[in-house]
Amino acid sequence: MKIGFIGFGNMAQALVDGLLLKEAIRPEEIFVCAKNWEKLKKNAEERGINPCRTAEETAERSDLVVVAVKPYLVAEVLEPVRGLLREKTVVSVAAGFPYDRYEEILLPGTHHLSTIPNTPVAVGEGIIICEQQHSLTEEEYGQFETLFSRIAVIQQVQTAQLSVAGNLSGCGPAFAAMFIEALADGAVKHGLPRELSYRLASQMVAGTGKMQQFLGTHPGAMKDAVCSPGGLTIKGVAALERGGFRGAVIDAMDAVEGD
Ligand SMILES: NC(=O)c1ccc[n+]([C@@H]2O[C@H](COP(=O)([O-])OP(=O)(O)OC[C@H]3O[C@@H](n4cnc5c(N)ncnc54)[C@H](OP(=O)(O)O)[C@@H]3O)[C@@H](O)[C@H]2O)c1
Repeated sequence: MKIGFIGFGNMAQALVDGLLLKEAIRPEEIFVCAKNWEKLKKNAEERGINPCRTAEETAERSDLVVVAVKPYLVAEVLEPVRGLLREKTVVSVAAGFPYDRYEEILLPGTHHLSTIPNTPVAVGEGIIICEQQHSLTEEEYGQFETLFSRIAVIQQVQTAQLSVAGNLSGCGPAFAAMFIEALADGAVKHGLPRELSYRLASQMVAGTGKMQQFLGTHPGAMKDAVCSPGGLTIKGVAALERGGFRGAVIDAMDAVEGD
């Protein structure tokens, strides 16, 4: 399967880097276009993938076309390729562009799926939130899932949950990175070298997440398991509660959800 990316910025590059890292697709099967040709050519050459002059060329040469421009540009950029996309599998990564909005933009009968990936796809550990309502055939959805499950957990949600699920997984890396940085700051304050602090903090977060996934244990029980009576960890937990840690995280989700 040949894949095209209309827009080759942060998110499209993260997806391509993950697919290449996992050898899920060969570089010569990837076609990309963007606004700035020189920048695109450089980004494409670094990866051995094909830069295209236009969205039309990208769509023509691809079976599956990923729409990866900023949301405010989606309608404008797709306008000249609507006819070509009628024959392709269209996968959107634009935030705030569910099924109904694409029905207004694309030609009737176009096969399309709205998704929200997160940046850890670049290392094959991402999440791709997919809207349950889509117009891909079973075979097309199967091909999408087979390919992209190499770099992400594929999770379908109802349209009403698309935003909050996308924000949890899409904004979450920023929140998690802040926690990693803060934890390392605390360790550096007490004498641990900076690089070692980041390495330990990141592995701790990755390992804790993996353990929760693997065992399915309630996160509260995982916290309890580390807190021995009168021990050190519970003192740290109490300090986090005094600092409003959980409330701050919930406030962050409220802020991104516009609540
Ligand atoms: N970043 C994330 O974590 C994240 C997470 C989930 C979803 N998304 C979604 O991913 C989409 C892209 O976001 P991003 O962060 O990757 O943005 P970005 O880094 O700004 O990339 C946007 C890309 O679109 C290209 N572009 C602009 N005008 C174009 C045109 N007329 N024709 C073709 N390409 C054009 C840009 O080209 P130039 O660079 O040459 O200007 C750039 O390659 C957005 O819809 C966003 O909602 C992003």
